[in-house]
Amino acid sequence: MLVNLIILLVVFAFAVLFGWLCYRSIRAKKLWKKLVGGVGFALLTLIFLALAFMGGKGIATAYFPGAPAAPDLTVAGTPEQIARGDYLVNMSCIGCHSDVGADGAPSMQHPLNGGWNIAAAEGFGFVGDLVAENLTPGGKLAGYTDGELFRTLRHRVDEDGDLLVFMSLLPYAQLSDADTEAIVAYLRTLPAAEQSAATGDKLSFVGALMFGAGMFGTPEKGTDSVTAPPQGVTAEYGKYVATFAECRGCHGPDVTGTPASAMGAAVPNPRPLVGDLSQEQFAEMMRTGVKPDGVAFPPTMPWQVAAQLTDDDLAALYAYLTAPVQ
Ligand code: HEC
Ligand code: HEC
Repeated sequence: MLVNLIILLVVFAFAVLFGWLCYRSIRAKKLWKKLVGGVGFALLTLIFLALAFMGGKGIATAYFPGAPAAPDLTVAGTPEQIARGDYLVNMSCIGCHSDVGADGAPSMQHPLNGGWNIAAAEGFGFVGDLVAENLTPGGKLAGYTDGELFRTLRHRVDEDGDLLVFMSLLPYAQLSDADTEAIVAYLRTLPAAEQSAATGDKLSFVGALMFGAGMFGTPEKGTDSVTAPPQGVTAEYGKYVATFAECRGCHGPDVTGTPASAMGAAVPNPRPLVGDLSQEQFAEMMRTGVKPDGVAFPPTMPWQVAAQLTDDDLAALYAYLTAPVQ
């Protein structure tokens, strides 16, 4: 944070310097100096002011997100909670937090000891290091209270209240209180594993700037209490399935596709295709990773996640994707 604050000050100092030079130019006696200097320095002043503003905004969002205090909470850790947490974590979190394999990507296998630098791996390393945390009690989470871990997931902040830059872009603020507690309960049961690399995020000034400019999307604010819709084969619950199975993270909040951004290529709207399928065909496609026309999903579409959904959750997802957008 300190380095970014210093860079911010330097950028701001340049804006002031150019502003002063602009003022000097305008007061110069020669007309060409007035024009060239005035316009040139005015432009530079504006550019540096804009950079300082975006950088400042990004720094404010990342380091002063204003999350509430951690709730006073003890998770019971019932067998039901642990089973539910197992379902959610091994569908969702494992994709980024599992042990890094020889190919440098998360192995999708336990231990969930983190170490994957998603920024470097996905080609946006210039924003800094965004390294998935060790989720086993072998890492920093061992020192978190249940309430702190709950707050981490709901408000995407670490123990100091700093924003988890990457996590803040994922839709976990919408997980219900019960599901969030289930995840906490399950993570506590994992055997402690050492981490393979330094974890956490280190935003560069460029990253702070892009973050401030909204180029990654806007982090969603969490609320104190979230209730899931009643579990069932309904479009309403299907939307909730699309949240924890991450469809909404990639295909957009309404699963209608997302345009290309600084963080990756465009993702298509799956609704036209799904709308042409029967529920059985949809389930078959999500379980096998092969579309009805025989074309397999490319690796950019992690169907293996959806393949683990229960029959009812897949049916709810189908109901949601074939219902009018809501
Ligand atoms: C798409 C990748 C991705 C997924 C999926 C993901 N995480 Fe993360 N997680 C990260 C990254 C990257 C960080 C490092 C901090 C940051 O930039 O957000 C992180 C950090 C964390 C932290 C660190 C908290 C701290 O205080 O430092 C916790 C806890 C965590 N994740 C839990 C989870 C859980 C639980 C899930 C599943 C519900 C999950 N994550 C899913 C990428 C991911
Ligand atoms: C990590 C990002 C990511 C996640 C998570 C994700 N998708 Fe996708 N999905 C993609 C991409 C990228 C494509 C386009 C692949 C291609 O180039 O054909 C795609 C393609 C699809 C298609 C095919 C669309 C077509 O017309 O060919 C369907 C259907 C689909 N996704 C459904 C889902 C569902 C349902 C979920 C949640 C269970 C989901 N996706 C989760 C990235 C994702």
